[in-house]
Amino acid sequence: MADVIGKKVAVILGVVLSLGVIVLTVVLCGAFFFFRPSSGQTGNQQLKQGSKNDSHIQNTTSGPIAVDTTQSVVGHVTFPLLTETSGICASRRYKDVLYTHNDSGGLNRIFALNGTSGDHLLTIYIEGATHQDWEDIAYGPCGTSSSAGGYCIFVADTGGNAGGLANTIFRIAEPQVDFSLNIGSELNVPLDSTLKFSWDQYDCETIMVDEQGEVYVISKVMSWNQPKLAHLPRHAWGTNQRVNVSMGVFLPELTSNRDNPTAGDISPDGTEVLLKTYQQVLYWHVPDRDYFRHMARRPAVLLYIRERQGEAVCWDAASTGYYTLGEDVNATLYYYRRVG
Ligand SMILES: *[C@@H]1O[C@H](CO)[C@@H](O)[C@H](O)[C@H]1NC(C)=O
Ligand SMILES: *[C@@H]1O[C@H](CO)[C@@H](O)[C@H](O)[C@H]1NC(C)=O
Ligand SMILES: *[C@@H]1O[C@H](CO)[C@@H](O)[C@H](O)[C@H]1NC(C)=O
Ligand SMILES: *[C@@H]1O[C@H](CO)[C@@H](O)[C@H](O)[C@H]1NC(C)=O
Ligand SMILES: *[C@@H]1O[C@H](CO)[C@@H](O)[C@H](O)[C@H]1NC(C)=O
Ligand SMILES: *[C@@H]1O[C@H](CO)[C@@H](O)[C@H](O)[C@H]1NC(C)=O
Repeated sequence: MADVIGKKVAVILGVVLSLGVIVLTVVLCGAFFFFRPSSGQTGNQQLKQGSKNDSHIQNTTSGPIAVDTTQSVVGHVTFPLLTETSGICASRRYKDVLYTHNDSGGLNRIFALNGTSGDHLLTIYIEGATHQDWEDIAYGPCGTSSSAGGYCIFVADTGGNAGGLANTIFRIAEPQVDFSLNIGSELNVPLDSTLKFSWDQYDCETIMVDEQGEVYVISKVMSWNQPKLAHLPRHAWGTNQRVNVSMGVFLPELTSNRDNPTAGDISPDGTEVLLKTYQQVLYWHVPDRDYFRHMARRPAVLLYIRERQGEAVCWDAASTGYYTLGEDVNATLYYYRRVG
């Protein structure tokens, strides 16, 4: 009798265990289905460098001491067409002039702002440029791929709203303007050149230009991988051929949505890099301008008072500090000046 009961118990236990295993399998498969990378995002694993690390960057590990800064409020950007600024860069030709743009949904225009007040100075229409999802703006030498000498402004139509399919950089020569005479006016500027590219990333909100006019882009975090830094080859300018970019490095430590890069900037001399994520301003010292080598290492964390949806950062023209700008209507323009 005891033997029979034992067998029955064993059978019932067996059934319960099997059911448990089946339920667990179904739940796990469901979870995998929900959280798997969507198509177009695969093939990324083998490229990944550095270790996955979900912890937030709190501290630097090695390298030079980070830049110490103090924060101040420059002003507010009240210009009504700038409802969602998502990039900023500083002129090196005109003192205290910044350029910014609106996020997706806007027209093919950028705006000059007064870097000491946030006041609107000028609206600049880029003739022939399209606007799917402009996500960042950069400033630098026009470079050897340009017939324009001097400085250029670069706009990145690389955002995820276009599913990574737009991936176009627009370049214009910085217009010659007498700001004292033209406050509030509109200007049309022709394209200097266009660069189209494709890569294995689908959302990118960071464009940076070095002291030679070379262009770098950084993607957003994809499927818990790190953001990818790539260099866009200068021979692709003006060809109208979409160049395939496979080379790149992954930035360490940044794996979660809050670590997503939303803007970046290379200092005028090319040796210092800022990267704005949703939560932080990160910094790399790159004395030899080998961005791939240095940015694969852990960055320093600089002072940053969190803005609501802040998506913009840039050095000032003399690298004596950096600006950040929120995305809100009436966004606050901050300046962080180096100390010591
Ligand atoms: C992630 O980074 C933290 C902080 O730097 C460190 O303590 C931890 O060991 C790292 N974890 C892994 C898995 O590398
Ligand atoms: C950074 O790490 C070092 C060494 O681990 C430690 O001495 C220092 O206090 C840390 N600084 C901050 C701001 O956490
Ligand atoms: C600015 O961008 C935001 C976000 O995409 C959009 O809702 C808004 O209409 C744009 N504003 C203008 C004036 O283009
Ligand atoms: C910016 O504003 C300051 C006053 O806040 C003014 O002195 C300066 O001329 C303005 N710059 C430009 C380029 O208009
Ligand atoms: C880029 O790659 C795509 C797909 O692999 C291919 O169709 C295209 O011709 C390539 N473009 C160039 C310029 O090599
Ligand atoms: C912008 O925000 C500042 C600070 O909150 C406030 O003093 C100012 O009145 C605002 N300006 C407009 C036009 O809303």
